[in-house]
Amino acid sequence: MKAVAVDATPVDRLTHSEARRALADLAMQIAYHDKRYHGDDAPEISDADYDALVARNRAIEARFPDLVRSDSPSLKVGAPTAEKFEKITHSVPMLSLGNVFSDDDVQEFIDRIARFLNLKADAPMPPLTAEPKIDGLSLALRYEGGQLVHAATRGDGLVGENVTHNARTIGDIPGALSGTDIPDVFEVRGEVYMSKADFLALNAAQEQKGAKVFANPRNAAAGSLRQLDSSITAARPLRFFAYAWGEASAMPADTQWGVLAHLRAWGFVVNDQTRFCRTVDDMLAAYREIETARGDLAYDIDGVVYKVDNLALQKRLGFVARAPRWAVAHKFPAERAVTRLDAIDIQVGRTGTLTPVAKLEPVGVGGVIVSNATLHNRDEIARLDARIGDHVVIQRAGDVIPQVVEVVMDKRPADAEPYIFPDTCPRCGSPAVAEDGEVAVRCTGGLSCAAQVVEQLKHFVSRGAMDIEGLGAKQVEAFYDKGWVKTAADIFRLEETSANADVPLEEWDGWGETSARNLFAAIEDRRSVALDRFLFALGIRHVGQSTARLLARTYGSAEAVIAAMDAARDPDSQAYADLVNIDGIGKKMVQTMVDFVTSDANRAVIDDLLTLINPKPLDVVAEGHPVSGKTVVFTGTLETMKRDEAKATAERLGAKVANSVSAKTHILVAGPGAGSKLKKAKELGVDVMNEAAWRVLTGLDDDD
Ligand code: IVH
Repeated sequence: MKAVAVDATPVDRLTHSEARRALADLAMQIAYHDKRYHGDDAPEISDADYDALVARNRAIEARFPDLVRSDSPSLKVGAPTAEKFEKITHSVPMLSLGNVFSDDDVQEFIDRIARFLNLKADAPMPPLTAEPKIDGLSLALRYEGGQLVHAATRGDGLVGENVTHNARTIGDIPGALSGTDIPDVFEVRGEVYMSKADFLALNAAQEQKGAKVFANPRNAAAGSLRQLDSSITAARPLRFFAYAWGEASAMPADTQWGVLAHLRAWGFVVNDQTRFCRTVDDMLAAYREIETARGDLAYDIDGVVYKVDNLALQKRLGFVARAPRWAVAHKFPAERAVTRLDAIDIQVGRTGTLTPVAKLEPVGVGGVIVSNATLHNRDEIARLDARIGDHVVIQRAGDVIPQVVEVVMDKRPADAEPYIFPDTCPRCGSPAVAEDGEVAVRCTGGLSCAAQVVEQLKHFVSRGAMDIEGLGAKQVEAFYDKGWVKTAADIFRLEETSANADVPLEEWDGWGETSARNLFAAIEDRRSVALDRFLFALGIRHVGQSTARLLARTYGSAEAVIAAMDAARDPDSQAYADLVNIDGIGKKMVQTMVDFVTSDANRAVIDDLLTLINPKPLDVVAEGHPVSGKTVVFTGTLETMKRDEAKATAERLGAKVANSVSAKTHILVAGPGAGSKLKKAKELGVDVMNEAAWRVLTGLDDDD
């Protein structure tokens, strides 16, 4: 699964201009993942990661309402909360947890914590708690003066549904807290779930009544909690485990373990499988113990959650956008099933990659019917020796696309033939080859391959790219088939093409005057698209949104980017050196960019496009900030932050980060061990500062 690159700055610490950039960034990311999910049916990130992006977007918008973009994802993303419930805005967002799957991942999680806290190599790790990850739905319970005032579902993490009347019917949820040390305001968080036995009994009863049966205990719990009529909820056997908290006017303890003890004393059920861990071995032992107990537990769990015990350390570790740095979910192995491989389809992607997709005899895997699974690439089919007619093991891990992980050799039909991966493109017939050192087999047809052209056009108009409202995959295909749109530039001639056509767009099936007019207006609007979107929309291999942004910021105009690529054909040129010197751009990327921009066919389309549209430079970020527009180089050891973090801060403030010192460098941040770069900077009279000075300059030390 792809990692999600998100800005880690807590929302309450963003400046106005950082927020503006973050929103632009999130709009692009979310649009991209919307497309992968809805348009391509090929999500790259988990639902939880996606939700976290949306949640961060909303949190930033809530703090900076004047920055809500016209293309804001919150205006587009289907409202995740049902309309029928009143909304409750969480005073502290309810975010999700990152996942780990292996013992090594657990060690890495601990190493990350140690690095972040700057612990000495031989220092003991901070103790953690380990507790089952309950497979239910989270609920926030707000107590004021010890009385339950409201209960809210997680919703999108920022705004949930008010289900107070239903929560009051759940026996494990006290209406009033008992005991001592009860803060004025305390929001208890935990999981609503249904036991396995209760779920089976409920389904049996539902079936008898001819009513809806639920797929699993989690769905049954969710369906039961989200009832408008609380007498229905009251009749359902819901339970609740308390394991976390949100807003609190005071904390009853300074450790996770201590707070859990108070929650228990106040009347909550706290999971008795919770363990205290002082070492990674303890954590893994707790995981195995809980995994072994899993089948015997009365309720479903899907992993173990580790949390740093010390609350002061939790605070220091803080959150990355999607999840706390101080906690992680160690998931149990993915669910698997065996089914027959009926066929292998070859899909042709935008850059010509041939991706084999397994067509399967439909099979249930963890409550979902699966009939397609990825086989990744040619090498993977060979490694598995997957043959049509074979029985194969399908795995679904979390929310990711199912994959074929193994062939059941015992069940292989006698006549199964080895699969021969095509050496020509199934769409255009051009040779399909793997470049040296690459696993991907690509169609070499380029712009003569209809599949690539159409995929490329779909990418061009997608939300993360040109974002043309009303022009999605389906429409692009229709216009292509009709011959109206063969290149991206044709999109900007669509109105004219339609006007001159025998049957104009408004007379097409499914179109009318209004929809056609709206589409033309949406296209018109994008003639002044932001430069980074335009560069991303070109669909250059290896040039994702962040690279596009770097290029836009570095060169300022489409023409300047193109001129730089032209000049960079010569690897000895200054232009080439400048490109490679942009931190985040490598030689391989430069090569694909130069090849793309200087190819005659692509160049013709780009030139054509630039006569029709006028991409606008990016807003100056953090205008007026002392590092805005400056070129910064980091050298030596950074002691209080990681290189990536330092770089991200610099870029957020509008600086460019370069790898080497030149006459164009404005600031060198030098830590211990700095050598030749420091020397060169001094020779060139570059402003040199240490890390502490940099922190002050960039406002990092306003932290408490
Ligand atoms: S702690 C800030 N502890 O898992 C972290 N979550 O994938 C708060 N969950 O939304 C979550 N059991 O619904 C925590 N023992 C546990 C949990 C748990 C289940 C759920 C929860 C959360 C999701 C994240």
